[in-house]
Amino acid sequence: MVDLRGTGDLVNLAEFEAAAKERLSPLAWDYYSSGAMDEITLHDNREAFERIAIRYHVLAGTAQRDLTTQIMGRQHEWPVLIAPTAFARLAHDDGEIAVARAAAAEGVAQVLSTLSTTSIEDVARAAPGGRRWFQLYVFRDRGLTTELVRRAEAAGYEAIVMTVDAPLLGRRERDARNRFTLPEGLTAANLSGSLAKIGTDGLDSGLFQFFASVLDPGLTWDDVEWLASLTNLPVLVKGVVRGDDAERAVERGVGGVIVSNHGGRQLDTSIASIDALPEVAEAVDGRAAVLLDGGVRRGTDIVKALALGANAVLIGRPVLWGLAVDGEEGVRRMLQILRAELDLAMALCGAASVEELWPDLLV
Ligand SMILES: Cc1cc2nc3c(=O)[nH]c(=O)nc-3n(C[C@H](O)[C@H](O)[C@H](O)COP(=O)(O)O)c2cc1C
Repeated sequence: MVDLRGTGDLVNLAEFEAAAKERLSPLAWDYYSSGAMDEITLHDNREAFERIAIRYHVLAGTAQRDLTTQIMGRQHEWPVLIAPTAFARLAHDDGEIAVARAAAAEGVAQVLSTLSTTSIEDVARAAPGGRRWFQLYVFRDRGLTTELVRRAEAAGYEAIVMTVDAPLLGRRERDARNRFTLPEGLTAANLSGSLAKIGTDGLDSGLFQFFASVLDPGLTWDDVEWLASLTNLPVLVKGVVRGDDAERAVERGVGGVIVSNHGGRQLDTSIASIDALPEVAEAVDGRAAVLLDGGVRRGTDIVKALALGANAVLIGRPVLWGLAVDGEEGVRRMLQILRAELDLAMALCGAASVEELWPDLLV
């Protein structure tokens, strides 16, 4: 059991958020924290977790808790992964390298974004003991897309996460107002030349313009098949919120489905992730891994997601808050708090292992 007393002044993830806000530039804070348009989904991702109550068991003999989980045939120490988030060096100079080291130390796998500010190879070299997946945006240029997959394979990444909820970038009005662009000295390090700059013409968010000009807005299920045929690594699709789409994914042979609305950053008023999970888990029916992200901030959120059929969850913004607060150490402390909360929640709800988390625990 992780000792919650060892985690410094900040005792929960919400306090990391407040501390990060003080340290980040307004441009970075807006980019990290915003959701699309009225930010209805951004808030509902949290509120949906809060609406679910736990009908806990008592006297269940939970002196020892086993937090391990299986994802696509491999064991993970505890059921959390780091979600792919672009541009970590906006939070801290050490960016994705600090995240990689913290993730390795705390026993979680890191999903590296296509739009990382540190390259695929440099991240792998910085934390050789760590486990990593690569998040792929599919470019109109399939040659470039293929090259990214090859680089991830060569650097030892274990899976490819194809993000499918972003044919265009959602409208994040704060970024549009700020004319978001990367500050001098930072680049999208997996790309080269002018592509890597995420520049703006001064009229809009540079990232919005980047998506519209170089990513493929016309992807179909055939492209999932194409990607699966391109690589021997398992492919997961990220951004599914419906059972019928999950079924289509499984038919294409994916290793996993990630229930996600991109942290409320894409289609505003879309369904909260945790509300979409039961339907997806039922459709997948054990034929592929089911993961979830969006609004996971407490150990009890993880209990709820696992009870509703997820094998694990991913966390996005809290990693950036930890990074902003204290680099690698901040990310580690944030993860330690979350793990201790999960362990405590399992003890209190009478579950000695993740296999004992079932829908009947919840109302
Ligand atoms: C600042 C930021 C950048 C993101 N960049 C990416 C990305 O490059 N690729 C991707 O698939 N998802 C991206 N996401 C979405 C996350 O992977 C994840 O779905 C979401 O953050 C989970 O919600 P949470 O932040 O509430 O934990 C990003 C999210 C944030 C907040």
